[in-house]
Amino acid sequence: MKLKIALLPGDGIGPEVIQQAVKVLDAIAEKYGHTFTFTKADIGAIAIDNTGNPLPEETLEICKNSDAVLFGAIGDPKYDNNPDAKVRPEQGLLKLRKSLDLFANIRPLNTYPTLIYKSNLKKDVIKGTDFVVYRELTSGIYFGEHTISEDGKTATDTCTYTADEIDRITHLAFRAAQIRRKKLTLVDKANVLETSRLWRKRVTEIGKQYIDVKLEFLFVDNAAMQLILKPTQFDVILTENMFGDILSDEASVIAGSIGLLASASIGNNTAMFEPIHGSFPEAKGKNIANPLAAILSAAMLLDHFSLIDEAEDIRIAVQKSIELNISTPDLNSTNHFSTTNVGNFLSDFILDDENTFYNKNNIDLGQSTII
Ligand code: IPM
Ligand code: MG
Repeated sequence: MKLKIALLPGDGIGPEVIQQAVKVLDAIAEKYGHTFTFTKADIGAIAIDNTGNPLPEETLEICKNSDAVLFGAIGDPKYDNNPDAKVRPEQGLLKLRKSLDLFANIRPLNTYPTLIYKSNLKKDVIKGTDFVVYRELTSGIYFGEHTISEDGKTATDTCTYTADEIDRITHLAFRAAQIRRKKLTLVDKANVLETSRLWRKRVTEIGKQYIDVKLEFLFVDNAAMQLILKPTQFDVILTENMFGDILSDEASVIAGSIGLLASASIGNNTAMFEPIHGSFPEAKGKNIANPLAAILSAAMLLDHFSLIDEAEDIRIAVQKSIELNISTPDLNSTNHFSTTNVGNFLSDFILDDENTFYNKNNIDLGQSTII
């Protein structure tokens, strides 16, 4: 298969983790005889530095002309600490999501047996957790009107949802539940918000077409609590934009590191794949960032094009690296591997899994992995 992939490394650790994801995709292309071509473009703080615009027209064109987008991270402390900044890196990402109409953000979460003890939560609570968050991505409070009064003392952010915006992601979430454990939980705040009551009505109505799926409702405050009290109760979580943003970061604690969590953003055309972590500026250039979230996002990209064996190869290699503790410091504090070394291990393993010899001494020394 030939795939044109737009690479948007972005800010902070974005370029380092995306480089490893490309390495792994190159290994897959070599092994299976695919042709993946990559076109790099700027977005975020780096794009503001270079052009004054967080999403330059050229970047958007490259994305629209690609089969898929692989995105790194966005954000820079010089904007985070300046509430008066007129242009912000995040605007680039939001505009890109809107322009590509990426209305569904899919964030899977599962636990790795060897990592369970890394979580701050009790092993018995998180063991067996396996759910996916369907987060609405192009509407709600993120995209409503934002105003500040002339005297600077009153601000407004408006949350709007239309039935169509709710319906299209709801169908995707129900279909996902049908091929999973057949349970869908709508997370909202229907006791307070009109938009949430519209979500409930639409989702209840659509649910009648998916009678094999059990539909439940949960207020977002309770959902935040249930996620860490009993995460195994969830299968598919469907929610609006901001609740999904908050709950997916909370959920990452269950996996042991936010550096493990991948996501896909789907619309009707070009899809985008991105780790859910941010730009982690403190780690920039230190070769310590965990590349697994970006690499697992690349696996979701392959799934999207029905390259199922290829995606599985990546997941098996990731599993192996975690088992062998070939991991960056967030997962392996005593004897860690660099971002580059984790990428090297995965690509070598994908190309040569049968015949790979692990040099235990080298692994223990945190040096090379393969002889
Ligand atoms: C995410 C991020 C973004 C969001 C930011 C960077 C705008 O937190 O993808 O979860 O809030 O959607
Ligand atoms: Mg977020």
